[in-house]
Amino acid sequence: MRLQGKVALITGAGSGIGKLTAETFAREGARVVVADVVDEAGRATVDGIRAAGGEAEYVHCDVSVAEEVEAMVAFTVGRFGKLDVMMNNAGIFHARDGSVIDTDEETWDRTIAINLKGVFLGSKYGVRAMLDSGGGSLINVASFVALMGAAVPQIAYTASKGGVLSMTREIAVEFARRGIRANALCPGPIETPLLAELLADPAARQRRLVHIPIGRFGQGQEIANAALFLASDESSLMTGAALVVDGGITAAYITPE
Ligand code: NAI
Repeated sequence: MRLQGKVALITGAGSGIGKLTAETFAREGARVVVADVVDEAGRATVDGIRAAGGEAEYVHCDVSVAEEVEAMVAFTVGRFGKLDVMMNNAGIFHARDGSVIDTDEETWDRTIAINLKGVFLGSKYGVRAMLDSGGGSLINVASFVALMGAAVPQIAYTASKGGVLSMTREIAVEFARRGIRANALCPGPIETPLLAELLADPAARQRRLVHIPIGRFGQGQEIANAALFLASDESSLMTGAALVVDGGITAAYITPE
């Protein structure tokens, strides 16, 4: 098992990529703490892991609230004795997020609070706990939009993900000699509840599909598999990287017909 003996904490693990990653980590031997704001969903992830013979706990945490993030990390260390893998995965895609010229301040503030400040807070308390544990792997979920722009804009989301990428790089450099590895995971469009509404519209779906060389959207498990690599010691030389898992989008100029 690739994560035997490790303790992992994953935010936003009640749904989508976080849920699949929690299940994957548990299957590979990690003891997992699932955090979310939707308690029912988070508890369902834990129930599924336990039913499959794994070890997991649920903790309620809004990642945009410092006291809750601090308490989430303290809960993990209190329950399992240490923290080896911190995955800041929770994120939102605000329905009113759009062009820079008409996105309202409230949409901007909410998106930045969860997607960027949430990752800052998770990194702040997570890195402290991993230092106390003798080292660890920090996985911050950014996006391919941190690397390229789109003519169908989502300005707050894109800005938040750019921030996650550069913040992660700096954390990686600062703590590289103290046993902490920090990497940004940059998924392409993945068929999770986050994108479900958008991709339900055939025109919106097609508008995006034409830009994906591999010819399809990604599945959550394909991101969970990449997270597993970053969490495990197999990626021991990797820090400060952007692991792009996007079906070739960021490599493409003209895609196949
Ligand atoms: P999802 O919507 O399926 O799951 C997100 C989870 O985060 C939900 O369980 C939600 O309750 C939780 N959450 C929301 N606000 C929270 C808060 N304040 N505190 C704690 N938990 C909160 O989304 P998905 O697709 O699994 O996304 C996971 C991450 O991957 C996000 O950071 C997203 O931006 C990123 N991502 C997703 C892509 C996609 O195409 N689905 C592409 C690139 C990045």
